[in-house]
Amino acid sequence: MQPIERHLTDDDLAAALRADVRGGLRSAPKALPPKWFYDERGSALFEEITALDAYYPTRAETALLVRHAPEVAAAARADTLLELGAGSGRKTRLLLDALSREGSLRRFVPVDVSGDFLEQAARELAADHPAIVVAPVAADFERHLHLLPSGGRRLVAMLGSTIGNLVPEQRAKFLGELRAAMGPGDTLLLGVDLVKDPARLVAAYDDPQGVTAAFNRNVLLVLNRELGADFVPAAFDHVAVWDPDAEWIEMRLRARAAQRVGLAALGMAVPFAAGEELRTETSAKFRRERIGPELAAAGFALTHWWGDGAADFALLLAEPC
Ligand code: SAH
Ligand code: AVI
Repeated sequence: MQPIERHLTDDDLAAALRADVRGGLRSAPKALPPKWFYDERGSALFEEITALDAYYPTRAETALLVRHAPEVAAAARADTLLELGAGSGRKTRLLLDALSREGSLRRFVPVDVSGDFLEQAARELAADHPAIVVAPVAADFERHLHLLPSGGRRLVAMLGSTIGNLVPEQRAKFLGELRAAMGPGDTLLLGVDLVKDPARLVAAYDDPQGVTAAFNRNVLLVLNRELGADFVPAAFDHVAVWDPDAEWIEMRLRARAAQRVGLAALGMAVPFAAGEELRTETSAKFRRERIGPELAAAGFALTHWWGDGAADFALLLAEPC
């Protein structure tokens, strides 16, 4: 494996976290971006979520990749697989195998904001794929797309419906920047979770084992450690609600009682009223009629759409146009 390339230094991360927390805890309603869930513990908790009965997206996307990865590989004929928000890369193995069988693959570039978790996952993938150059990059896909490795024919993948964690304005900016960073011969593979029965959606984000609740509260532990905050995670309830107008699941943390939280590194004391909520994540669910025009507006043409029988999840391919 090549040494990890870091576009995010510890200082960058600290500055970005401070800015997000300062702005997010002063806004009304209070909100934090979901990228701060993913320290080592948060990344491990997300892996646990993917194995839960209630959390269908990972199973649905894995089944789609088992069935369609060879078609993806044949359409892309890529020498580089660049994966945004790679996480553990477990599902990516299906793509790596299909691209290797296609005979085109030379390089795998997993990109993630969670650098240490990424480095470990990349090491394991490299051990299992000795013929491929594995070149991990610690970067923020909302800031560093222009710095990612270029050249050759690239398949840029974003799996797991991670694109749904961007709100529409962020998504438009992200897709525009991605389009600018891609050229002829490059292909985009997106995994998107689809709109469905709200009861199933809420259940996927409020599992009876409490793993998603622990993942949600983990962001408070990140703030305690990184910013000298004194959040008591147990003083906040995990909340998952479906917003039928925005068509997204919103995760929140609701203060059980009125309290004041100190953030020593920011010199801030933040009051919470009893019942006040802090938004920690939006997870958009898609329809083809919605993501198609979003891609077109950014300069992509949708070329393939693979759905499952239950219409739970879809994989799509798009090309710069
Ligand atoms: N692709 C995997 C993991 C999804 S979890 C899967 O489908 O199962 C979302 C991943 O995106 C996490 O690993 C998280 O660290 C990463 N991530 C979140 N926001 C990011 C950002 N702004 N830039 C880069 N990576 C990000
Ligand atoms: C990574 N992302 C697409 C997950 C999702 O479903 O929005 C994160 C997650 N949040 C709660 N459970 C899983």
